[in-house]
Formats: sequence, structure tokens, C-alpha cells
Amino acid sequence: MKIKVGVFFGGASVEHEISVITMNQAISSLDPEKYEIVPIYIAKNGVMYTGDDLLDLYSFRDMDVLLKRCYKVAVINDGKGVKVVRTPAPLIGKRVLNTIDVAFPIVHGTNCEDGTIAGFVTLLGIPFVGPDIMASSIGMDKILQKKVLRESGISVVDFVSFYSVEYIKDEEKILKEIEEKLDYPLIVKPGNLGSSVGIKKAKNKTELEEAIEFAMEFTDRIIVEKAVENLKEINCSVIGNLTESEASVCEEPFFSDEILSYADKYIGDEKSKGGTIAGKGASIKYGSSKTSGAKVQGNEFGNKKIPADISKEKTEEIQNLAKEVFKVLGCSGVARIDFLIDTKTDKVYVNEINTIPGALSFYLWEATGKPFEKELDEIIDIAIKRHRDKEKLTFSYDQNILAMQGGSKGSKGTKGAKR
Ligand SMILES: Nc1ncnc2c1ncn2[C@@H]1O[C@H](COP(=O)(O)OP(=O)(O)O)[C@@H](O)[C@H]1O
Ligand SMILES: [Mg+2]
Repeated sequence: MKIKVGVFFGGASVEHEISVITMNQAISSLDPEKYEIVPIYIAKNGVMYTGDDLLDLYSFRDMDVLLKRCYKVAVINDGKGVKVVRTPAPLIGKRVLNTIDVAFPIVHGTNCEDGTIAGFVTLLGIPFVGPDIMASSIGMDKILQKKVLRESGISVVDFVSFYSVEYIKDEEKILKEIEEKLDYPLIVKPGNLGSSVGIKKAKNKTELEEAIEFAMEFTDRIIVEKAVENLKEINCSVIGNLTESEASVCEEPFFSDEILSYADKYIGDEKSKGGTIAGKGASIKYGSSKTSGAKVQGNEFGNKKIPADISKEKTEEIQNLAKEVFKVLGCSGVARIDFLIDTKTDKVYVNEINTIPGALSFYLWEATGKPFEKELDEIIDIAIKRHRDKEKLTFSYDQNILAMQGGSKGSKGTKGAKR
């Protein structure tokens, strides 16, 4: 019997399209002998769809045609399992279109990766791949995440955080606090977004004010960080759970501006790549294995060097730190941890975790010697094992408190109601 894997993707996030690409990459590497893929596409307005056309990346070029060829569905637990049912129920034909054994959220960004989808799949009560609600939400929150890491003795840059409402109320007080605690240059970021949206560098007070106002357009919580100078960025992926984990080779992403931008991450060098995101996603799907050995490669997520040009010792330091971050934040499945290195002092800072990384970091694992198919097998196994372990825990007592109350005081109430 094949395992029915419900792949949830899309979602109301700025990284909607990236999720569609990551999902497409993953399904093309899921072992067809072991798994049956049940695609659940979450449109930007939150409506869920299923249908075979969702398995073909090219069908996303014309959304209107695609969605007409799919079914609008709800994913529900009816007490006997998780079902994909048509909504509204059809007058003729099947209502239940499919069942799901394991949920596999492949979503990125706010409203999805931040615990929203983790909560939804937790409620379904079946095994699900990836981080739980807590790891997802802390993983998406730049402020809470840095506080948790700092508390665990993991080195992060110095920072000041505040709510927009506080800034609007007393701008001078907050600016004073920032200038007292941190030296320029600074980096101002929205507290809970991804993809470099709303991020600016500030070299003086005027630029700081501008950057804060810019970040406030995107969110209600702001983080101002000390900018790491002589910057080298290094990323490392981890696969595992709380007790066991493995780190991949490191990568060095390159950036064309001071801050690695959305364009650097997803669009890269236009001369060497296709124009549309969908086009690139498809080409990387086939090109990945062949190019993963190359030293410097341009691919769908910008330009990067794999393995990164750092010493063996630095690599080990980063790999160990990556595993520590994964554990401290309570992650599961596959994550990517991003680091900032000051090349003058050689100091390593943890920048952030991506709890559902772009392309599920398959290119890092392929370069480590683990084919994508094996990576997917492993993270699905981790999900099934976690679910089994969770089932052993006590989440409710058998006594029904409401029934017990009904026997004493409650029975009076019932009688009363009858009268
Ligand atoms: N403290 C910092 N010092 C120097 N550069 C930074 C710092 N924080 C972020 N950056 C730059 O900005 C980019 C985006 O910031 P990041 O925190 O990773 O946000 P996102 O979640 O949008 O990826 C980083 O990849 C890096 O290039
Ligand atoms: Mg980042």
C-alpha cells in the first residue's frame, strides 16, 4: 500500500510562487513506488483545490484555466481519517475525492510557514512533515527567534526591537535607545517577514528614521540590528529531529547590492537565466543533479558557491551551530540556517532559520551526497515517527469531566431544563 502524501502548497504569502516551484521540485523526486501524491493547492484567497493538473508546473502559467480544471475542496478529519472532499458537495458524482495519510506542507513565508499551516495540519491529527506550530512561528519571527537563541548562548547580532505604535508615540525615545545601544551601520527589518521585504541599511540617524518608516509600511513590529561588516554569508541545511540531526555542506550566496535582495534570491542574473520564475523552476528540476558538483553555479535561487569557500574548521563550527539552532528552536524535517560572518574578526553570527527552506535545500543535500529522493524519504519517516511518539503522550484523561458533572449538579440542570 502506497502512503498517500497530501502536499499543501501555495498560500496567502508573497512567496506563493516560490512554494509552487519548491512543491514541483519535491513531487518530481518523491518515489512513485512508495508514495501517492495528493496535491492540495491553497490559492492566494485561501481556497483549497485539488486535481492532477496541479502536478504540472506549466499549468500555473494560466491560473484561470488551471483552477477551472481543478476541484474546490475542504480537507477534513471525519473521525475515520483525513478526507479531501468537494465543496460544495456535488449533486452527482463523488464527494470524497481522496484520503491523506501524511501531510506535507511546502509553503514559505508569512500566513503559511509561520505556524498557520502547521496548526491546520496538526488539527487534522495525522503525521505531518516539518516544524510544529511553535518552531514554525518562532522560526518566522526575527525578534523572538533572536531572543531565544541569545538566551541559549548562541551568538546573534546586537539588536533593539519595538512595536510601531511605540515608535509613533515616542519616536525620539526609541531613536535614543537605538543610538545608545548600537553603533552605525544598522540594518532595519520588519519583525516577521521574509524575502528581504522591507529591509534597509542605515548609516546615520536620518537614514535610520527613513528605514524605520519604510519597515513600518510592512508590519507592526520592527527589529534594528547592528550590521555585520566585512560580511560573508554562509548557509547550512539540517535534517533531523530533536534527538538526531545531520548538517549539509555549506553554501555561500552572493549578492549584488548591500543587502541580499528578493531579486538576488529568486531572480538572480537575468543574463544567465530564464525570465520567468516558473521557467527557472522547471529548468532546475532537471538540471540540478548535473550541476550540483560545480564549484560556482547560478541556479534558481540566485548565485551561490557550493561548498562555500571557508576552512574545514569554520565549516565544522557552522555545521555544529546549525544543528544547535535546529534543536533549540525545536525544528523537525529539513531546515536551512543562515549565518553572517565578519571576515575581519572571523566571528560567526546566526542570522535566521528557514523552517521550510526554498527548494527544501535539496541542492545542498545533493552536494553532501544525499539525493533528493532520499532526503524526502527521511523527512517523511521523521514525521511518521514523531506522530507515533506523540500518540504515546497523554493529551486527555479518559474521564469525561462534563459527564461527571452531569451526574451530580449537572443532572439537576438537565431536569431543570426539562421542566
Ligand atoms: N545584521 C546584519 N548585518 C549585515 N547584513 C545583514 C544583517 N541582517 C541582514 N543582512 C542582509 O540582509 C539580508 C536579508 O536579511 P534576513 O534577515 O536574512 O531577512 P529575510 O528573512 O528577508 O531573508 C541578509 O541575507 C543579508 O544580506
Ligand atoms: Mg534571509
